[in-house]
Amino acid sequence: MMVSRDIMRSSTRDFQKYYNPKLHNELRMDTNTNVLGSNPAAMRYLKNMEVELDSYPNTYSDGLRSELAKLYGLEMDNIVAGNGSDEMLDVSFKTFTEWGDNCVVPVPSYTLYDYFVTMNGGKALEVDLTEDFQLDVDSIVRSDAKIAIMPSPNNPTGNVFRHRDIEEILSKFNGIVIVDEAYVEYAPKGSMITKVNEFDNLIVLRTFSKVYAMAALRVGYAASNKDIADMMNSVKIPYSLNKISENAAIAAVKDQSFVKMSVDMVTEQRPMLAAGLKKLGFEPYPSDSNFILAKSPIDHSVLVSKLKEKGVLIRDFGSKRRTENCVRMTVGTEELNSIMLGKIAEVLEEFR
Ligand SMILES: Cc1ncc(COP(=O)(O)O)c(C=O)c1O
Repeated sequence: MMVSRDIMRSSTRDFQKYYNPKLHNELRMDTNTNVLGSNPAAMRYLKNMEVELDSYPNTYSDGLRSELAKLYGLEMDNIVAGNGSDEMLDVSFKTFTEWGDNCVVPVPSYTLYDYFVTMNGGKALEVDLTEDFQLDVDSIVRSDAKIAIMPSPNNPTGNVFRHRDIEEILSKFNGIVIVDEAYVEYAPKGSMITKVNEFDNLIVLRTFSKVYAMAALRVGYAASNKDIADMMNSVKIPYSLNKISENAAIAAVKDQSFVKMSVDMVTEQRPMLAAGLKKLGFEPYPSDSNFILAKSPIDHSVLVSKLKEKGVLIRDFGSKRRTENCVRMTVGTEELNSIMLGKIAEVLEEFR
């Protein structure tokens, strides 16, 4: 039986499923996750855990929220914790978007923003980044929008946005400003998280999926002033963060040595990967993150599909506006980068 999509809610009828490549043991350099393997402190907890499965987790993940509050000099009530920062995005739009509201989404930026805005009844108001991939402050401030979202460092371009621009938007924009800091640990210029009590409209999003190497456990959080956090906690699905993931995240926060080692590795390897790409004819963009966006010297889709056949996955952004013919790859260890560059060189050899 064929069921027409007309039965779907009209606002979500055109949705397509998310990126889900068929895997055959490829080297995954396409998801910006930590290449150093599972977070050791979280793994130690999982190997020795004793957990009661018959009771619910703490309703609002108080244990993790307190540990994060200690880390940033905030209070537990400044934080909302949940099932990945994707849930925090969903909760932000659910809490503050009225049906038909505009939400500023920069172009290019994280592909799922449009999805969360639309799903929650809003309309994505696309505002292009400037030529050097910085925020167009005037257009954002002047926009008739309820929420403005920006990932800093930006995915897929890799650069951070200037703090003075973000702060100007925070002071002049008449709405909520979400700064998505999924990759901020890699950025030397740091985070806006310590400023959540300074601005009444700032939400900072963070995740355990990237530098913490815990993507499998789906843990993310939002920080904001207490009033905003209270509103978001009232909307969030209770218990959305499971007990096991919460405890593993607490263990990981208490041991920052792995995070530091991971950041040091990326800081050292990033310029070498960029140099290797340049040598092969790519044009890499400057990155403050654990991935690099680069213009390919051959057709982007040929490069990505042939690399996959050779066992390496990178992400294709080449058909999207502002990232024409570009691909994005995770910064690996010296060994992984050398494997990836070697395979890229083979593809170029065959297709030039
Ligand atoms: C900018 C940005 N925000 C949020 C996320 C989602 O993170 P999480 O795994 O915590 O849902 C990603 C994942 O790639 C991302 O790149």
